[in-house]
Amino acid sequence: MTKSEVLRVENLKKYFPVKKGLATLISSRKMEYVRAVDDVSFSVPGGKNLGFVGESGCGKTTMGRAILRLVEPTSGKIYCEGTDVTSLNKKQLKSQRRKMQMIFQDPHGSLNPRRTVSEILRQTVRIHELASSKAEEDSMIKDTLEEVGLAPAEEFGKRYPILLSGGQRQRVGVARVLILRPKLVVADEPISMLDVSVRIGVLELLLRMRDEFGISLVYITHDLATARYICDRIAIMYLGKVVEIGPTEVIYSKPIHPYTRALISAVPVPDPTVKMEEIPIKGYVPVSVTDAFSSCRFYPRCLYAEEKCGKEEPSLVEVEPDHYVACFRAKERSLRA
Ligand SMILES: Nc1ncnc2c1ncn2[C@@H]1O[C@H](COP(=O)(O)OP(=O)(O)O)[C@@H](O)[C@H]1O
Ligand code: SF4
Ligand SMILES: [Mg+2]
Repeated sequence: MTKSEVLRVENLKKYFPVKKGLATLISSRKMEYVRAVDDVSFSVPGGKNLGFVGESGCGKTTMGRAILRLVEPTSGKIYCEGTDVTSLNKKQLKSQRRKMQMIFQDPHGSLNPRRTVSEILRQTVRIHELASSKAEEDSMIKDTLEEVGLAPAEEFGKRYPILLSGGQRQRVGVARVLILRPKLVVADEPISMLDVSVRIGVLELLLRMRDEFGISLVYITHDLATARYICDRIAIMYLGKVVEIGPTEVIYSKPIHPYTRALISAVPVPDPTVKMEEIPIKGYVPVSVTDAFSSCRFYPRCLYAEEKCGKEEPSLVEVEPDHYVACFRAKERSLRA
């Protein structure tokens, strides 16, 4: 782990056992698993945002939750500022959580409806023993509400979540995290349930967490456009694996993996003078993956597949500084824009 890294994830796996019918229990077939996250490694430097982009079911939520040990990883290592998070006991994990926080997709479901906004924040302050007096708690709550744009703070602090708009509720979700001044925040589709009109405001707030407080963000989304807006680097996920990772503008301007290229060609290009080749994806994303892979995961859908792709699984290879691609044909001209 280098000094500037806030998060390092090594060979993270999360396999869920699949419930079997009686017939299978009686037979001698071995247990099967959904390989939701299947050997993912990456790191996040301090004060930088990394986006994870992929279709529904590719393992984004599981990975985000596994990083914070909200689900227990099957195997792999997670380091936050050098601390091995995977080896912490319950008590140690509680104090580590102050540094590693999560913003959820559904701001309504994640806020206690029976507490006012200031009670919700006060509970966080008390759990983590952040203040030594009630006056200090009050001033932290007021400052944080103002920081997330819920001003006047006295007014918003008295409200119950039900009386807030979706955008305001998500700002409370951000406030609850920001008040802890964490090092790392995992945000799982934080704007997908919000009105289009308030999304940009919440994205701006996430950017301010990086720029004003130096907080690193793991931003999980199925939407490439918002990832481009707030992320310094982007990882493209497919069936539990990272298939391409690199600086945001490189991923956009020079995507190499056929899956990334197909995703990007499906996103409206903001600059109409940029000509983008449209690349269709063949076939469909399998909902779950229980069998071991003896081919590239994208093989059934790939227009560029060749014989080798059906026999082996490619691993991530650095094709240029800080740009990694898992595709046997990554170095061929035909796959490079
Ligand atoms: N608790 C669970 N038990 C069994 N399978 C699960 C569980 N959670 C997720 N999965 C499966 O893991 C895969 C990845 O899911 P998820 O992480 O939710 O993906 P995403 O967030 O990218 O949509 C899916 O096939 C999903 O059905
Ligand atoms: S390894 Fe082969 S099948 Fe997989 S993405 Fe590359 S060309 Fe397509
Ligand atoms: Mg998800």
